[in-house]
Amino acid sequence: MKILLTGGAGFIGSAFVRLSLGLPDPPHIVNLDSLTYAGNLENLEGVAGHPRYRFVKGDICDERLVTALFTEERPEAVVHFAAESHVDRSIFAPSPAFETNLRGTFTLLEAARQHGIGRFVHVSTDEVYGSLEPPLEADENYPLNPSSPYSAAKAGSDLLARAYFVTYKVPVVVTRASNNYGPYQFPEKLIPLMISNALENRSLPVYGDGMQVRDWLYVDDHCRAVMAVLAKGRDGEIYNAGGTCSLPNIEVVRRILAATGKPESLIQPVTDRPGHDRRYALRSDKLERETGWKPQVPFETGLQQTVDWYRGNAGWVERVKSGEYMNYYSRNYGNRQQELESTSIHARGH
Ligand code: NAD
Ligand code: TYD
Repeated sequence: MKILLTGGAGFIGSAFVRLSLGLPDPPHIVNLDSLTYAGNLENLEGVAGHPRYRFVKGDICDERLVTALFTEERPEAVVHFAAESHVDRSIFAPSPAFETNLRGTFTLLEAARQHGIGRFVHVSTDEVYGSLEPPLEADENYPLNPSSPYSAAKAGSDLLARAYFVTYKVPVVVTRASNNYGPYQFPEKLIPLMISNALENRSLPVYGDGMQVRDWLYVDDHCRAVMAVLAKGRDGEIYNAGGTCSLPNIEVVRRILAATGKPESLIQPVTDRPGHDRRYALRSDKLERETGWKPQVPFETGLQQTVDWYRGNAGWVERVKSGEYMNYYSRNYGNRQQELESTSIHARGH
């Protein structure tokens, strides 16, 4: 089988490439990635020379390039990971999320419609369901209720994918996974950011009261869910993939401090994210029932492996944290800290 994979130089896409090429009879993978700040060919050093692997640097919004790849490579499947994937960045600058997540998905669906394809896996997220009050859990029929530019653009792309199935019979399958963590994750998301800050004895910026709940899924378990859907999903269907590990952020941060051997005094409350979803919660019994998939990596094991990886890969962290990252960091966190200080001065009546 030949797969046109998008976003394979990012966190989850690169894990998918590494896992797939490690299989006894691996698929052919053509990895289309534009190498944004989040794309990193270092993540793929171990597989770059594999005979069944080709990397193409390019934008999924580039219609000519996408068409040329479909004509030249004749992929049997598309696995679509590429996205602007970070909520905070989409709040600062929504335009890239709309371009890549919506227009990029449209470009790929159009090419798939025109050239024909056996399967199109659209990788989406539980964030499209928005915030759920306990004890609610979203199944695949739960209404879409996205809160951020990121999740709104992902929800839009899910609807577009559905329309291409219903109207043109493009064999689309959508996955919606919960929050991923693991090695090679860019240190802008909660777990890698907190681990790398802790290892550097920097403060750990917790938004608001830290009681927001996320469900954590180890990255390889997510990749196995995508593989299961690629092989066994039904055309036009949506499959949730949760990690069965719901925790408030502050608890995750405390466990990271314990795993890195650092003091809780590093925790720094900062002002909350605008529109912050309070709680995500998923039911994944459809995926389990239809494909036999189950998450295999318990959170304790996955977190320890992740901490060990960041500890052992300080060079990778240092390189991705250079340049643009520092601008992002001071723009996002500088203001949050100042805002919190001025709010608490105000609250004290000064
Ligand atoms: P990431 O930000 O680590 O990687 C995104 C990759 O896409 C990068 O390699 C980047 O260079 C590439 N890319 C971005 N724009 C592109 C464009 N226009 N053309 C070509 N390539 C482009 O993201 P991730 O965390 O690996 O997420 C992958 C997918 O999984 C996304 O679709 C995301 O919505 C979804 N998802 C992520 C999570 C999570 O917790 N990270 C959870 C559920 C679903
Ligand atoms: P994040 O990793 O950005 O994923 P998402 O917003 O897509 O769920 O954030 C996970 C949770 O952690 C979310 O509730 C926001 C919170 N958070 C912090 O408290 N501090 C931080 O510095 C970051 C990046 C996130």
